[in-house]
Amino acid sequence: PETGSLSIIVLGASGDLAKKKTFPALFNLYRQGFLPPDEVHIFGYARTKISDDDLRNRIRGYLINDASPLEDVSKFLQLIKYVSGSYDAAEGFQLLDKEIEKHEISKSSREGSSRRLFYLALPPSVYPSVCRMIRKYCMNKSDLGGWTRIVVEKPFGKDLDSAEQLSSQIGELFDEPQIYRIDHYLGKELVQNLLVLRFANRFFLPLWNRDNIDNVQIVFREDFGTEGRGGYFDEYGIIRDIIQNHLLQVLCLVAMEKPVSLKPEHIRDEKVKVLQSVLPIKDEEVVLGQYEGYRDDPTVPDHSNTPTFATVILRIHNERWEGVPFILKAGKALNSRKAEIRVQFKDVPGDIFKCQKQGRNEFVIRLQPSEAMYMKLTVKQPGLEMSTVQSELDLSYRQRYQGVTIPEAYERLILDTIRGDQQHFVRRDELKAAWEIFTPLLHRIDNGEMKPIPYQTGSRGPAEADELSAKAGYVQTHGYIWIPPTL
Ligand code: BG6
Repeated sequence: PETGSLSIIVLGASGDLAKKKTFPALFNLYRQGFLPPDEVHIFGYARTKISDDDLRNRIRGYLINDASPLEDVSKFLQLIKYVSGSYDAAEGFQLLDKEIEKHEISKSSREGSSRRLFYLALPPSVYPSVCRMIRKYCMNKSDLGGWTRIVVEKPFGKDLDSAEQLSSQIGELFDEPQIYRIDHYLGKELVQNLLVLRFANRFFLPLWNRDNIDNVQIVFREDFGTEGRGGYFDEYGIIRDIIQNHLLQVLCLVAMEKPVSLKPEHIRDEKVKVLQSVLPIKDEEVVLGQYEGYRDDPTVPDHSNTPTFATVILRIHNERWEGVPFILKAGKALNSRKAEIRVQFKDVPGDIFKCQKQGRNEFVIRLQPSEAMYMKLTVKQPGLEMSTVQSELDLSYRQRYQGVTIPEAYERLILDTIRGDQQHFVRRDELKAAWEIFTPLLHRIDNGEMKPIPYQTGSRGPAEADELSAKAGYVQTHGYIWIPPTL
């Protein structure tokens, strides 16, 4: 691994994302020894004029948890320095560069001493100007070696054109290997497991196709509403917030062909192919919803047409998946919080147990909470009678990997940015292909040509969504429910 000075600069340091995700992730990396204090320095940058200690105090509360002694928190906070400045003027960035350099010089006896990671915890509207400033004033000093990388977060634009515009503005300043587009779902343990599962297990190889799989569901549910983020959310809606990025990334990993190797570019090449094979979405394969009470949020317009729920069926036009619906479903203010992939197999041909059978085989990957994979299958009901019952082979992580802490998505992804591994980041052509899929639908919603159906807070969402899944071929299993094992 590289050594020498590493500067991590969090721009938008006093914002929500930085406080809730970026700094806690950095702290966890620090605690585990991935950010050695003799090499690493962290800089917070934002417009507000506050002191180093003010920033530390604002972050502190988000770092404290049962696993981290207060002493560690204090030591970590001492690594953070605050610089204030605007996002589009030279002054602040010149000052920032000076501060970074001071730190680098004090550590410059080693090689590779100018590693600079800029984390843009900012709204994308300022990405172009911030990137320009970094490019002009804050690049790593070539005589010291090292590198400069930038990390950006969604939303990367609002549709194909705006995303492409943003990409080319950033692309003029930084090369693709320097740009890390985060989709934090790619940092989740069970999402990272997908490639291993699919390509390292003989079980799945012959089954993973249209001959055996009837339909695939990728589902995201939250049991709370937009809570204080109404202003942001209303501009984007559930498709841009969850489906076009998080669920679509998961779809790529479920559907892609085997990559040539595990090299990031080989993997991303295959993901792009899947995206490019997705057929245009049909209006009749979309159900939109909006929870009742959403518009009561003072930051949401009274007549908002923004969906807080959507079921969208994607169809992949290739040899493996022709005819298999990929049902993507996401919603806020529903009856539960979970994210999962549900692969439903076809009925057994010539089934001799048909009259007794309760459900189809399913392979479920529970991304959160209670990470697990389970295979729903039919077995003989134990006992004297010959009857069948639905059961499962269950790999529940909490039980199988006791005492293992599953890293937070952000923690892992930030570590990748330091190590220079782009496997779990979205490449520019992937992003473009993702927007191509959803832009026509999004425009129709934005123009008010498609309207969300109201649903009750705490419900399953609009009944029409269940009807659509059923029409697409999904058969719900009755009389069976998987219960995560308790220890
Ligand atoms: C974010 C969305 O990207 O993901 C939020 O903007 C959503 O609306 C969040 O709540 C969900 O992430 P997680 O990791 O809690 O499933």
